[in-house]
Amino acid sequence: MRAASVTASYKRWAPVYDSVFGKLFQEGRIRATRHATQRGGHVLEVGVGTGLALPLYGPGVTITGIDYSADMLARAEDKVREHRLANVTLRQMDAQKLDFPDASFDSVSVMHVLSVVPDPERALSEIARVCRPGAHVLITNHFAAAKGALRLAERLIQPLQHQLGWRADFPMSRVLGDPRLRMVDCAPLPPLGILTWLVLERV
Ligand SMILES: C[S@@+](CC[C@H](N)C(=O)[O-])C[C@H]1O[C@@H](n2cnc3c(N)ncnc32)[C@H](O)[C@@H]1O
Repeated sequence: MRAASVTASYKRWAPVYDSVFGKLFQEGRIRATRHATQRGGHVLEVGVGTGLALPLYGPGVTITGIDYSADMLARAEDKVREHRLANVTLRQMDAQKLDFPDASFDSVSVMHVLSVVPDPERALSEIARVCRPGAHVLITNHFAAAKGALRLAERLIQPLQHQLGWRADFPMSRVLGDPRLRMVDCAPLPPLGILTWLVLERV
């Protein structure tokens, strides 16, 4: 993915995103927001998009949501107003260059974002930097299947990545390489099991 493709494709997705991906991705959002709420403190949501997860966090946490796309963020701002979310701050920012000091956050939610960001390894390095020791990084994403019909479908649609706005052929190994982030949980998400729930702990 290129930065210009992210901007262009999410400008197209923004008006219809909630209708297309609202329910489809909701299980991961519920799991991540529940986990972050239980841990408490300051949560960073990377690639907050239209803000579908924002009303799901409990009132006891403070949330900073960032996104590269101004069009997606404008929808998130609407949700903050509609739901009167006084504990949410939104900023336009690149996940690959986070404008926060080291060790700022207790949890970082990264939902359906890592296969979109142009350089996911760099984004994860930035996430590791802004995590406090012991913080949890809560990832939900579709990762490339090992084999079968799904693997074939991923390969067929991969050339459309710049139009779609995500890589279909994205291996999980690309998010497991930072030595500061240790995997503590990994499970398929219902209903179809094509999305994965992953928890990385900042060592
Ligand atoms: C598939 S959407 C996911 C939105 C939301 N997390 C959700 O669960 O519905 C991917 C989001 O990642 C954002 N994104 C892509 N590259 C980014 C970057 N480098 N920095 C910040 N956000 C980025 C896109 O603008 C888009 O809003």
